[in-house]
Amino acid sequence: MLILGKNISALITIFGATGDLSYRKLFPSIYNLFQKGYFAESFALIGTGLNELTTEEFRKQVRVSIQNHIDNPKKIESFLNHLFYKQQDVNSKESYTSLLQLSQELDEQFSLEGNRLFYLAISPNFFGIITNHLKKSGLTQTKGFKRIIIEKPFGDDFKSAEKLNQQIRNAFEEDEIFRIDHYLGKEMIQNIERLRFGNTIFEPLWNNKYISNIQITSSEILGVEERGTYYESSGALKDMVQNHLLQIVSLLAMERPTSRRADDIVREKVQVLKALKNVEPIEINQNFVRGQYDKGIINNETVPAYRSETNVNKNSTTETFVAGKIEINNARWSGVPFYIRTGKRMSKKTIQIVIEFKKNPRNIYYENNKANLLVINVQPNEGFSLYVNSKKSNQNNEMQIVDLSYIMPINDKMNTVDAYENLMFDTLLGDQTNFTHWTELVHSWLFIDEIEKVWSYKQPNFPNYKAGENGPKESDELLEKDGLSWWNEL
Ligand code: BG6
Repeated sequence: MLILGKNISALITIFGATGDLSYRKLFPSIYNLFQKGYFAESFALIGTGLNELTTEEFRKQVRVSIQNHIDNPKKIESFLNHLFYKQQDVNSKESYTSLLQLSQELDEQFSLEGNRLFYLAISPNFFGIITNHLKKSGLTQTKGFKRIIIEKPFGDDFKSAEKLNQQIRNAFEEDEIFRIDHYLGKEMIQNIERLRFGNTIFEPLWNNKYISNIQITSSEILGVEERGTYYESSGALKDMVQNHLLQIVSLLAMERPTSRRADDIVREKVQVLKALKNVEPIEINQNFVRGQYDKGIINNETVPAYRSETNVNKNSTTETFVAGKIEINNARWSGVPFYIRTGKRMSKKTIQIVIEFKKNPRNIYYENNKANLLVINVQPNEGFSLYVNSKKSNQNNEMQIVDLSYIMPINDKMNTVDAYENLMFDTLLGDQTNFTHWTELVHSWLFIDEIEKVWSYKQPNFPNYKAGENGPKESDELLEKDGLSWWNEL
């Protein structure tokens, strides 16, 4: 949530500053905030990493990152003057002593008021070690705020997530921990709340009396690329469903929060996650479909099978596709299936939410009345469409479905900030609305663990879809069994 006119002072320390995430997302986002004037002069950034770099060399690399991502970065020179590099062995106590010293110097030099934000853009294996050292070295004892941003994956299952959380909580309070789910930074995901609660025409219909089903798709053209090692231990269920898709479900299904405060919103989202129907093993097999891509053709090019990707086991049983039917056990949603699907190497990159309303039960006019739909387009185009029945002009009895669309106009699009910029800004303001609270993680992991357990009993018959297709046929059958089909054509 961006609030204009704030002056923020902070020292941002990035662990993993020479990594891909920092170059693609973090530096351009922080630069954008700087260019918009949010920091004034009271800002400094320490990039840390294992590499031996001078601050000059580091600044050169950051310059390239910004120039590659932002047209005409006018304030780049003055931005770079606020950047410093420190070689850091995350396991060495001494490393943190010198980091503390540098932090104190910069605090003084840039009037940072002791505000410290630590960004862990590094493997989760190091989260516990780093937070422990931050505490012991005195880096977290500061007169200003101390906050930490943590990248996913947050655990591998409920148990490991709990252990990780305990380690971090030894050094930071829950309201100082910002667990990134970058989908929560996307404009149209943030718009779900506004659409629902800002319009009288939707909320009264937002229940099982009027909604037939909800479909959420996040499909990718890309394969696993260079992330084979990580992906082998994750798979689509943990990589996408446990976090991004369940977050979307909870935003779509939550009750109206008492206020826009993060704790009020989290409380309602947790209620949804708690109410996810605890499915029996037999239902898990019926309601969840997994897939893995074989070689195939995308955009006229042949792409390899998942099992032939770098760092992937030749007999891998890791899923690259998941479709599922999720049911929510409460008065509002009982009987309304939420279908989700996500996969790599599909025909299109899209993130789309379709809310299908029930057909008018006493339609006195015409047989061919169609269901009303509200389609929220998250990516690649941002906007939404409402499909309504209407008279066809000049045809006596004919009806047609009309698409009332809002597409984010070009001007707005130019201002559309990257999800990371939104999230970084929220953290600096201490606003946790668009981050994952520990309680949300607990319930999403418990739900996912059950599915993983059932899947582990049976070897899947992989590969079962070709790259360029939209998952295995069982994904379509999942809806056909309920007399439905996926609305969004991929
Ligand atoms: C990440 C996953 O969280 O989301 C990736 O780890 C995936 O595997 C990515 O590619 C998709 O994000 P987006 O914003 O492109 O839909």
